[in-house]
Amino acid sequence: MRHSTLRQLKVFEAIARLRSFTRAAEELFLTQPTVSMQIKKLTDEIGLPLFEQIGKKIYLTDAGQELFQTCHGIFEHIARFEMIASDMKGLKAGKLRLAVVTTAKYFTPRLLGIFCQKYPGIDVALIVTNRKRVLERLINNQDDLYILGQLPEEIDAVAEVFLDNPLVVLAPADHPLVNKKRIPIKRISDEPFILRESGSGTRMATERFFSEHNLKLKVRMELGSNEAIKQAIVGGLGISVLSHHTLALDAPTGHLAVLDVEGFPIERHWYYAYPSGKQLSIVAHAFLKYLQQASHFLKDLSCHHATSGHCPLLQNNEERKL
Ligand code: PGA
Repeated sequence: MRHSTLRQLKVFEAIARLRSFTRAAEELFLTQPTVSMQIKKLTDEIGLPLFEQIGKKIYLTDAGQELFQTCHGIFEHIARFEMIASDMKGLKAGKLRLAVVTTAKYFTPRLLGIFCQKYPGIDVALIVTNRKRVLERLINNQDDLYILGQLPEEIDAVAEVFLDNPLVVLAPADHPLVNKKRIPIKRISDEPFILRESGSGTRMATERFFSEHNLKLKVRMELGSNEAIKQAIVGGLGISVLSHHTLALDAPTGHLAVLDVEGFPIERHWYYAYPSGKQLSIVAHAFLKYLQQASHFLKDLSCHHATSGHCPLLQNNEERKL
């Protein structure tokens, strides 16, 4: 394997983990032909097939399984070295690898902007993907820190609340329920509904909320992005429940309305998290301290929105092990 590169191993690891060339290409910001070419070179170099495709599914061959294990060892060693090297440089230089859920993209880049102004030498890698994949990355210890909604109890991680994440009911501005007060939840479940993709935290919280009220949503459409859902609402395809943060900055102002529905907003929170026992780099630790003050930097995202429900204040920053 003398001529195999780290890049080829990264591509291989992503395909093996995600069991998909397409998803690996997306995650690594590469085109599909590039991904296929890297794997072809790696396979030629090793001289054994690494994947086999049965129907639409991809499986690892025995050689593939072995290489997958080897990759984890290699990447762990490199990450450990990067941490040592970056700690040697202090906050003047170093790398911060963050993975955040889709909805956190409405505020994370802004927070990073302020952080990077303070520490211009720091190099940031930001992965934005849905809750299910962020959890996979956390379990595999692929990044320094994670931003997501509450963690499942079975995951052994340190997690701490740093910001509110109210979920609200959004409708087109000309919807007959706009300006109605205290709309019963049942009335919402009668409307055509647009739901996020499975694996999304927003979807999970929404489904849980309606099932706790013994109501079934009339799902008209599933869409994999908050932006696409907002456009679909404006297009009159239905209503939805999304984070209030999705209205930040570039909301199609005037086209969307937050409905005043009983029980809303659903009070969700943003957590930063990392696997229990992980030793944080100096850079990751500095970012974590900075996140604890995120609500000061994101004043416009605090909860003075047009819903009737109260908005919880930031919870205290007590560290929780979930
Ligand atoms: P999502 O996660 O962007 O995957 O919906 C948001 C959340 O967990 O609240």
